[in-house]
Amino acid sequence: MTGDHYFTAEPTTPAQPREVEFSVAGRDYTLASSSGVFSAARLDPGTAVLLRKAELPAHDATGPLLDVGCGFGPITCVLASSAPAATVWAVDVNQRARDLTAANAARVGAADRVRVAAPDDVPADLAFAEIWSNPPIHIGKAELHELLLRWLPRLAPDGVAWLVVARHLGGDSLHRWLVEQGWQVERHASQKGFRVLRVTR
Ligand SMILES: C[S@@+](CC[C@H](N)C(=O)[O-])C[C@H]1O[C@@H](n2cnc3c(N)ncnc32)[C@H](O)[C@@H]1O
Repeated sequence: MTGDHYFTAEPTTPAQPREVEFSVAGRDYTLASSSGVFSAARLDPGTAVLLRKAELPAHDATGPLLDVGCGFGPITCVLASSAPAATVWAVDVNQRARDLTAANAARVGAADRVRVAAPDDVPADLAFAEIWSNPPIHIGKAELHELLLRWLPRLAPDGVAWLVVARHLGGDSLHRWLVEQGWQVERHASQKGFRVLRVTR
């Protein structure tokens, strides 16, 4: 055992390379993953529900799109593949996750359009057409709220955010909290205990 969490900045667990296979919208993905990142062995079931139920960006979307808490990059890679002209920003605190996302962006032929960054390295003047996240619930409620209050205001005026949260991990209370903060929130889908929230201004 080590003290690492999936949101550790510099995992000390030795990197054990793995591959994760999944399909979204008729496209097959084989992505690199590793110990020390979130859901290293399989596509997370919440992420799977998000990618199945939310509206993927249009083929001609240019973005910029943002994946908050990219992990090894499954959401980023699906967004970049669905919108082959879009720039996708992939943000994570975990260096190993960022390295994997960069490698996976290259695997799906999107290395030139995927910008992998630590949170503080995203240019302050960028407004995002879409924000996607399977957010890190386990960092704690106050920290999660802080994370959302940091990134949701970066939505373009007509932008849309797609979030997935397990109901038993507070999906419905997060929905209520977002409404209290003044966001328009729709429970777009509910499957396998996961809520897919569509958030707009
Ligand atoms: C639930 S995981 C989702 C990972 C990936 N998107 C997926 O679907 O497999 C949440 C991710 O958020 C990252 N994270 C934790 N705190 C963060 C923060 N303050 N800013 C950005 N990312 C953070 C974690 O390292 C983790 O990779």
